[in-house]
Amino acid sequence: MRLNIAIDGPAGAGKSTIAKLVAKKFGLMYINTGAMYRAVTLMAMRKNIKASDVKNLCDLMESLSMHFENDKLIVNEEDVSEEILLPKTSQNVSNYASILEVREKLVHLQKEMAGRYDVVMDGRDIGTFVLNNAPFKFYLTATPEERAKRRYNELMEKHVKVCYDDILNDIIKRDHIDSTRKINPLTKAKDAVEIDSSSMGIKEVVDYIVKYIEKSL
Ligand code: CDP
Repeated sequence: MRLNIAIDGPAGAGKSTIAKLVAKKFGLMYINTGAMYRAVTLMAMRKNIKASDVKNLCDLMESLSMHFENDKLIVNEEDVSEEILLPKTSQNVSNYASILEVREKLVHLQKEMAGRYDVVMDGRDIGTFVLNNAPFKFYLTATPEERAKRRYNELMEKHVKVCYDDILNDIIKRDHIDSTRKINPLTKAKDAVEIDSSSMGIKEVVDYIVKYIEKSL
């Protein structure tokens, strides 16, 4: 059986930081599915294609090639890893991620990657859908205020000018769209271990996950 690890949770819960470290610890490939939805959003916005314009969105996706290189997401030979994290993408991504055709295309790619490598995959529908047979599933949460604070600090460190209240509002809005959309909404898988990281540091969360997995291996 593959050692696949699914990590889901709401916006800004620290999934990608934690997932990267867990992947390193076990020598697995890290797949950031949020980055993939963000990349489609970025490319669509560059071409002024709205989320409701499904025909052009499908054509656009056909023209995109996507792969990860050491945690960097490369789309049509361009490293988009930094640009996809900017607020303009965050504010729009949930609308594009609600579109059936977008999800079908990206889930297909994600399943293909997980078929080829043992992976740590993070997102919203990994434990419930994409890797529903994964032997290890975690659901990472924290209060919206704590998540907004972390995202604010992260962007400030990158010298991106942001306002805390805007980040908090974006996170609350995104969580709402992600957890109420029709197709594979954000929800904890029944067999996922829930971790509330509101008052836990990165190392503490990683150690908890690593110990949990090592105990069962
Ligand atoms: O890093 P952050 O928690 O802010 O979000 P992300 O993981 O980069 O995901 C960005 C957005 O992509 C989410 O708000 C969802 O709308 C969408 N997404 C999704 O629908 N399904 C996934 N498996 C991963 C992300």
